Amino acid sequence: DEAKKGGYDHFMIKEIFEQPKAIKDTLMSRIDDSGKINLDNIDIKSEDIKNIEKIYIVACGTAYHAGLVGKALIEKYARIPVLTDIASEFRYNNPFIDEKTLMIVVSQSGETADTLAALRLAKEKKAKVLAVCNVVGSSISREADYVFYTWAGPEIAVASTKAYTTQVVSLALIALYMADMKGTIDEFEYKKVLEEVKVLPEKIEKILESQSNIKSAASYISKSSDIFYIGRGFDYYLAMEGSLKLKEVSYIHSEAMAAGELKHGTLALIEENTPVLALATQDFLYDKMISNIKEVKARGAYTIALAKEGNTEIKGVADFIIYIPSAIDELTAPLAVIPLQLLAYYVATERGCDVDKPRNLAKSVTVE
Ligand code: G6P
Repeated sequence: DEAKKGGYDHFMIKEIFEQPKAIKDTLMSRIDDSGKINLDNIDIKSEDIKNIEKIYIVACGTAYHAGLVGKALIEKYARIPVLTDIASEFRYNNPFIDEKTLMIVVSQSGETADTLAALRLAKEKKAKVLAVCNVVGSSISREADYVFYTWAGPEIAVASTKAYTTQVVSLALIALYMADMKGTIDEFEYKKVLEEVKVLPEKIEKILESQSNIKSAASYISKSSDIFYIGRGFDYYLAMEGSLKLKEVSYIHSEAMAAGELKHGTLALIEENTPVLALATQDFLYDKMISNIKEVKARGAYTIALAKEGNTEIKGVADFIIYIPSAIDELTAPLAVIPLQLLAYYVATERGCDVDKPRNLAKSVTVE
């Protein structure tokens, strides 16, 4: 094990640092010389895409959180309605599936029992299934009609990191590809978004180089018993992933909330010094998030905000700020998740937790 960790203390931190390469590898064979996304080798015909009336994205855990980002990307660019469900719920929800439904299952291992069962149910009901999967030859990749592999390499730590970012990048490519086929995106925007996808590895490198201030936020959180992650839009999906990462490895009680929903219950839990991680990467929701930060601060919360570089207004509002490089709103999730992963890691190590093998959890849940 020590040799495989390549000088890192744990697999989790090694895998966090492997993300720029994992994303580059995932992108490499998918963009051709003319600068277009080429998914010929997964063999989805443009006719198939044009006939899709709706998409279901189904997965578990972190893969589900990547799926939520995928939903927003597909709806935004390809204008196809996307329903999302947790695999263990989907199966019992009498889902709306027919031959005009595309099901996208997202799974790192390709062996999660509920996700596999959901795939089988969709196929029974005549839907086509596209798997976004990391393990070549896994059950899910074998049974799906089409497979888009994330080339993240082996992920050993139970808490998923590089699988998530490569899943988000894969779903972004799928969204753009579908949009192009359907003619719902113009050439200028297609190029602009794809360019932003291509620079993600560089931007992640930058975040990984400037990680030292995250340790002081981690030190504060490590002494807390509860934490809340809040966000809107893409940041809400990101909040779910950040919160899951922290609870998995540090055992601190953590909840993710849509920031606008705070007033409907969770605000009652905010006490003096309760840490609140406010994700504020969405330009068009920025002012709303500033109000939410003020709202929790007024109840005594210690606020840690995550924002794009150059957003100065937040300085006077939050107690602690983590910046990420600027990006379009649609692609902040794979950047902003990096400090959240690091935060979870540092909190867990400070608390002496078994980071790579958290209690009660398994890397791949092959039983229902
Ligand atoms: C387990 C793992 C998570 C993972 C989830 C789904 O709970 O601990 O890290 O996100 O299963 O796994 P999959 O292999 O289907 O992505």
